[in-house]
Amino acid sequence: MAHKSDLIASDIQAYLKSHEHKSLLRFITCGSVDDGKSTLIGRLLYESKLIFEDQLAALEADSKKVGTQGGDLDFALLVDGLAAEREQGITIDVAYRFFSTDRRKFIVADTPGHEQYTRNMVTGASTADVAVILIDARRGVLTQTRRHSFIASLLGIRHIVLAINKMDLVEYSPEIFETIVKEYRDFAEQIGLKDITPIPLSALKGDNMLERSSRMSWYRGPTLMEYLEAVEIEDDLQSKPFRLPIQWVNRPNQNFRGFAGTIASGVVRKGDAIRALPSGRQSRIARIVTQDGDLDEAVAGQSITLTLTDEIDVSRGDVISGSDSPPAVADQFQCTIIWMHDEPMLPGRPYLLKLGTRTVTGSITAPKYKVNVNTLEHLAAKQLELNEIGVCNISLDRPVAFDPYADNREMGGFILIDKLSNDTVGAGLLSYALRRAENIHWQALDVNKQARSALKGQRACVLWFTGLSGAGKSTVANLVEKRLHALGRHTYTLDGDNVRHGLNKDLGFTDADRVENIRRVAEVSKLMVDAGLIVLVSFISPFRSERRLARELMQPGEFFEVFVDTPIEEAEKRDPKGLYRKARRGELKNFTGIDSPYEPPERAEIHLRTALFSPEEAAEQILNTLRDAGMLYVADELAGL
Ligand code: ADX
Repeated sequence: MAHKSDLIASDIQAYLKSHEHKSLLRFITCGSVDDGKSTLIGRLLYESKLIFEDQLAALEADSKKVGTQGGDLDFALLVDGLAAEREQGITIDVAYRFFSTDRRKFIVADTPGHEQYTRNMVTGASTADVAVILIDARRGVLTQTRRHSFIASLLGIRHIVLAINKMDLVEYSPEIFETIVKEYRDFAEQIGLKDITPIPLSALKGDNMLERSSRMSWYRGPTLMEYLEAVEIEDDLQSKPFRLPIQWVNRPNQNFRGFAGTIASGVVRKGDAIRALPSGRQSRIARIVTQDGDLDEAVAGQSITLTLTDEIDVSRGDVISGSDSPPAVADQFQCTIIWMHDEPMLPGRPYLLKLGTRTVTGSITAPKYKVNVNTLEHLAAKQLELNEIGVCNISLDRPVAFDPYADNREMGGFILIDKLSNDTVGAGLLSYALRRAENIHWQALDVNKQARSALKGQRACVLWFTGLSGAGKSTVANLVEKRLHALGRHTYTLDGDNVRHGLNKDLGFTDADRVENIRRVAEVSKLMVDAGLIVLVSFISPFRSERRLARELMQPGEFFEVFVDTPIEEAEKRDPKGLYRKARRGELKNFTGIDSPYEPPERAEIHLRTALFSPEEAAEQILNTLRDAGMLYVADELAGL
């Protein structure tokens, strides 16, 4: 069964080649060090005399070459997985180990098992066929066991090995084994896991690992290695509809325009009628180009470049499908999100969403509930904390082609990335498109922003004042508005305290509420700009993310971020509303600058150091900036007529 090839050390490529005919099983081990996970993996690797970690580096480098030479694809995928993580700057702690026996090749994703390491597990599990869930026979089913099983089920892993370890420490008791199995099965059934193979073992002593244990003759099932070698994996990717997410458009010269990517599912043949999504344009396959020459047919997992019979517009991130079974296109979805970051998921905050080869901006519009992984209860949720799993509505800034995750992992699985830190903060699975999105269309209006602002003789824009409470935002905004008014400009001021009396009456000062506060006021100011007004927004707006969201809602040149930069000592000294004093006395929680953060702008258009200038001088500075930017030009001209 186990074997060692000298080729491993001397010639990795030849070694891989000699194993090409064998099927590949990807599995993940879930459990903690205490459960004996390292021992279990160590024994599998050791007894099979396999490749050790120190050889993985060589393997990586070599298989990269193999990949570009059209060699062993499965292996290239492993390397791709690692590369993708690095590209994203994710410090995910997953060690992929590669080993093989005479019957099969294996890639095991080994993930640290502490509670906070859900993200490692998600990364490892997203490509796995089998999850080996480790249980310490003395401790039984734990919260962590349930969470890992739930995630495995969510991510579409159909085969579970319940590895009940440390049987030597419970005197190889069949009763203990059975009790744990029963408890686990009851839980697993509720989350839709059907194929469960419980194995009593001792990784330390080697019982039921590779060899059958004489100390548990009551057990009739397979050993762990027997199971891993024999479990049948449905490789139904090829029978699914054809999907090619476009990685890049290859245009070396005028005569060649190829669309390159790795086929996510299905089969494609020369001459097939295709459709490009999201545009929906149709054409036919002219050529299927690979490093090894043209093919007549290509299947899931192959990296190819397609050329089409017509010149249609296809860009990176688009999807090419068969013309009669295209994926759906939508920009609002229901999805399940697994949150992986210390900073909670905040509804309304814009995140980058990476789905296949496409990256768009998305935000959670409505968290519906989160799941208690122990009881599977649905709990009301305003936000998601580290490791929490929730069902939410999500809205994207543009439509994407997708399939539900349950139908196609690659077309329905996504990650969420923080726009500022570039950290991966969550993983998600698309369930279905929201109908309402389909039924709401843009209404074309003939009187538009240009017409409205021209009538007012001005250019519409936003002056976005940000700064601590008591920094002087409203004072300066008020002076600026008076000056603009005197110049005959049409203005409106949205002030935090005022808007919180009406539109945002329902919001408090938690991070989540502040995000929603700013999201709403950003949308309102966009409408006001559309109405042709010069809008002054005076909100603390403490987070960079949401100020950026506001900026991105506007056209270039329409957004002026005004940083009212008053040191906290000074703001506290002024304390016009007595709120700092209250906060210091502990009577006011989440007060900005005291126990709630303020993230100063990095490059505001206008930086007002209020310690150095009077409010009048600050207002003058703003007016000068507007004038220099040509924002007052139109009206000046009119006035001169
Ligand atoms: S923001 O952070 O969500 O942008 P916003 O500008 O709407 O805040 O409201 C800030 C005003 O609310 C402050 O000027 C202050 O008068 C009042 N306020 C009441 N509680 C707080 C608090 N905990 N933190 C900051 N401001 C508060």
